Amino acid sequence: MEAVNSLDVEAVRADFPILQRKIGDKPLAYLDSAATSQKPAQVTDAMRRFSDYSNANISRSVHTMAAEATDAYEGARAKVASFIGAPSPDEVIFTKNSTEAINLMTYAFQNASVERGADPRFTLRPGDEVVVTEMEHHANLVPWQQLCLRTGATLRWLGVTDSGRLDLDDLHEVVNERTKVVSFTHVSNLLGTVNPTAAVVARAKEVGALVGLDSSQAAPHLPVDVAGLGVDFIAFTGHKMLGPTGIGMLWARAELLGAMPPFLSGGSMIETVTMERTTFAGPPAKFEAGTPPVAEAVGLAAAIEYLEALGMDHVRAHEQDMAGYMLEGLGAVDGLTVIGPDVPTDRIATVSFTFADIHPHDVGQVLDSEGIAVRVGHHCAKPTCARFGVTATTRASAHVYTTTDEIDRLVSALEKVRKVFA
Ligand code: ALA
Repeated sequence: MEAVNSLDVEAVRADFPILQRKIGDKPLAYLDSAATSQKPAQVTDAMRRFSDYSNANISRSVHTMAAEATDAYEGARAKVASFIGAPSPDEVIFTKNSTEAINLMTYAFQNASVERGADPRFTLRPGDEVVVTEMEHHANLVPWQQLCLRTGATLRWLGVTDSGRLDLDDLHEVVNERTKVVSFTHVSNLLGTVNPTAAVVARAKEVGALVGLDSSQAAPHLPVDVAGLGVDFIAFTGHKMLGPTGIGMLWARAELLGAMPPFLSGGSMIETVTMERTTFAGPPAKFEAGTPPVAEAVGLAAAIEYLEALGMDHVRAHEQDMAGYMLEGLGAVDGLTVIGPDVPTDRIATVSFTFADIHPHDVGQVLDSEGIAVRVGHHCAKPTCARFGVTATTRASAHVYTTTDEIDRLVSALEKVRKVFA
């Protein structure tokens, strides 16, 4: 059953100081949360408290602040683990962002492919296949392309239907006995589509492939549950879920992390080091070389606490309401074409569109003059744009602080765009 949207959006907005600002003399309408979300004061306060009071490096010194910093960092790991229902905090690896989390995966495959005695699940050879989809943002496409180039494996992909859904007609052909890994987006950053994970995961498991999910656009808006999803890897980033930039995470089952070769090497990820050789620590340390982003981890934990206090079911319900409202408003604008599902079912409130023959950069410029922030361009998903025969779109995206009034302003401002460029 769908949760009822019971978010008190005005109370939520009061927590986000940036929403009070003006662009010129116009109040800000921030409709670019898919690029990066805004942060509530609870997040910036937590980071400032940490920096002003407990700042120290972790897991190295024995002084009080070093212990506080280590506790804060490991506490953040435990918070992320419980947010996604991971059985153990040690299954959560902190990274810089989703891109780095996905590179951690692809480099595990690449390193295993050249190491003697590596776990065969991670070794790729010519004849092996890697599967992605045509709706990936570049972060979950380019690293797999590079991996295939370096190992001789073949990259394959599931297509996208005209209505912006994953095309599962040839799922059994594309995901087959040669498939070693399937990595696909949970929610499309360009189309807003929420993908049918169960069907893809079931097929991947049937052929014995590992399966990874890029939840960058999902974790901010819907419950993400490790057990329910049944995948082997999940990646997401903090800055799209009300947290800071510079922190993301990769979750994988402990057994897999144990079998994966490390990605970055250096301090903190070792067991012993001599001049000749090194043995590695167990996960998560094995994958976190160097001083990690401690204040950012604290900020991410505060963002998760904030989302949990709202309730992810309510966050999801608000998102769905905003998707419906946006589709209805934009759908009534003459000459506007939505690129992606035109109904709010299995969709988030990230809506891409073309508008008459007006270039998205021109659309974005006029909207900005009205105080409305949207993203324009290819959205780091050029193949998805190409699938729909466009080089760029205008994209409006919502979050917990988005109001129907802001969407109304977007819709009215498009009439101004038309007047300027007609
Ligand atoms: N992937 C981010 C976006 O969709 C940057 O805008």
